[in-house]
Amino acid sequence: MAVKIAPSILSADFSRLGEEVRAIDIAGCDYIHVDVMDGHFVPNLTIGPVVVEALRPHSKKVFDVHLMIDPVDPYIEAFAKAGSDIITLHVEAGQNPGHSLATIRGLGKKAGISLKPATPVEDIAGLLDKVDLILVMSVEPGFGGQKFMPEQLDKIRRLREMIGERPIELEVDGGITSQNAADVIAAGADILVAGSAVFKDGDYAGNISTLRGNEQ
Ligand code: DX5
Ligand code: ZN
Repeated sequence: MAVKIAPSILSADFSRLGEEVRAIDIAGCDYIHVDVMDGHFVPNLTIGPVVVEALRPHSKKVFDVHLMIDPVDPYIEAFAKAGSDIITLHVEAGQNPGHSLATIRGLGKKAGISLKPATPVEDIAGLLDKVDLILVMSVEPGFGGQKFMPEQLDKIRRLREMIGERPIELEVDGGITSQNAADVIAAGADILVAGSAVFKDGDYAGNISTLRGNEQ
């Protein structure tokens, strides 16, 4: 299977977000990655369900919503109604991740679980039947433009093994560039999230293509 590219709109021009979403859609992205931060689970504040709803008409592609918030449960329904396709929460957040994942599926959406860099794979072993996606953070969540943590490659390999034949997508988020994308894919990633590497220099199509491993 070819790798999927999910540009993080955190690195887009926020004064023209709708236009930016259309531009990455036309540039050939697979998913549109939306980073939601609450200033509490992570030390940054970004966007809420009203923004997801406003962006929804701008693309038919999968809206891949990454919740870096705690608590999680009070906001799941609003993100589902706003038009998210995948809703991912952190295993380190909330009261009961298994319950939150079931709520997401109950709303007809795909459910994802994410792990911060220091969180061991064992912490999600009991949730595999409840998820459609696993998101490995390869930077400390909170900000775009950080450096990829190479020690996460081993975690990606271990999760690939743990997933086995289950229909779960493995996504990696943080510091992905044309220099390390091939290593991340070789370790077992199905989806690469990339903010700065897609939105730099204005050539979104070229940047997406390079991340897929195509020569420019
Ligand atoms: C970090 C976010 C990432 C990040 C990716 O908390 O979850 O999606 O913005 O940006 P880059 O690719 O610039 O590291
Ligand atoms: Zn993210």
